[in-house]
Amino acid sequence: MHIDLVDRDIYATTGPPLEQLAWLRANSPVHWHDGAPGFWAVTRYEDVVHVSRHSDLFSSYRKLALFEELTQEQIDLQRHMMLNQDPPEHTRRRSLVNRGFTPRTIGSLEEHIRDICDDLLDKCTGEIDFVTEVAAPLPLYVICELLGAPVSDRDKLFTWSNRMIGSQDPDYSSTPEEASAAAMEVYAYASELAARRKAAPKNDIATKLLQPDEHGETLDEDEFQLFVLLLAVAGNETTRNAASGGMLTLFEHPDQWDLLVADPTLAKTAADEIVRWVSPVNLFRRTSTTDQVLGGQEIKADDKVVVFYASANRDPSVFSDPEVFDITRDPNPHIGFGGGGAHFCLGNHLAKLELRILFEQLARRRPDIRQTGPARRLRSNFINGIKELPVVVG
Ligand code: HEM
Repeated sequence: MHIDLVDRDIYATTGPPLEQLAWLRANSPVHWHDGAPGFWAVTRYEDVVHVSRHSDLFSSYRKLALFEELTQEQIDLQRHMMLNQDPPEHTRRRSLVNRGFTPRTIGSLEEHIRDICDDLLDKCTGEIDFVTEVAAPLPLYVICELLGAPVSDRDKLFTWSNRMIGSQDPDYSSTPEEASAAAMEVYAYASELAARRKAAPKNDIATKLLQPDEHGETLDEDEFQLFVLLLAVAGNETTRNAASGGMLTLFEHPDQWDLLVADPTLAKTAADEIVRWVSPVNLFRRTSTTDQVLGGQEIKADDKVVVFYASANRDPSVFSDPEVFDITRDPNPHIGFGGGGAHFCLGNHLAKLELRILFEQLARRRPDIRQTGPARRLRSNFINGIKELPVVVG
């Protein structure tokens, strides 16, 4: 069976190659994938969790965690980001930013996020693109709120983030150089923001992160800039595509939509099931730090290892009826936010809150929403994305 797990054209037309991933999971769960670069494809839940929880054996820094061909300039930039670091560097940075993302801090945003959702849904009438009108602005408004940035800045953040991540998709047509230029613009923006917050602290997460912690440690200016850059991508594209992928999935499963409309409080379990089903982040990469055995295969030091969340989230040894989209699934131990360990998604509470409130309010306020045309997918093997989802709202 010829299997190409990273062909962007496949992702642009059908989404992740789920059939091939299922075949691998059953027949060759740690599989050498030829290509430039070649890598071990890890498709079973148990192995993805093992890789994720052992940063000492599977490094994010050595060859970087993202599965991208990068220029040297981009590699240098990426290496400074938490996502691509290993303990102990990673641990220090992560504990400083964790302060802004505790369940309590995030929970305090609930009313604000509800207002944002209601605002967006109030504006939805007639034939619209769900991505442009709802899924894209929601995480951007929320990130602006976290940073204490004016809502008018959201368009800038939207364009920068598309240019940074969209280099695989011709619609966003960004070359690696443009992606780097966009990153530099985010840097400059973050620098101005930090200066403003230091001069006039506010009650927002940006202010909190710029202040020393209980040990007197603080993010320096470079680290703050890098963090804003990471938020603009990690907190934005992922949630956008969970929202649009979730809406599309509900259109494809009208019985589940009817269930949600009948009881909007099911949005809590629905949010998790959407993340399991859509797996907005398809994959992440690590590099083996040593010769070792994984899933019966001998892996050499410096081999690249790619974990496929979309596959692990449909592993029948963990999920009963994994091919059934069930918004009442509980418990739901999906690993759409990562398999645990040092890099587990910092924004998982926030993303779940945004998705829960969005789908709750959609079911309450826009029960008649319908799809009017085909969805267009993002040409990316990293993000499972929807670029366009035409709908009509009565
Ligand atoms: C890391 C998924 C939303 C911030 C990650 C990882 C995944 C992920 C798979 C990597 C885990 C690993 O390597 O073990 C998602 C999904 C989201 C989402 C599916 C939405 C549905 C967010 C949001 C934010 C965020 C809203 C912030 C506002 C981050 C950061 C990291 C990360 C900063 C890096 C953490 C580290 O390296 O320590 N996310 N994410 N994410 N995510 Fe998310």
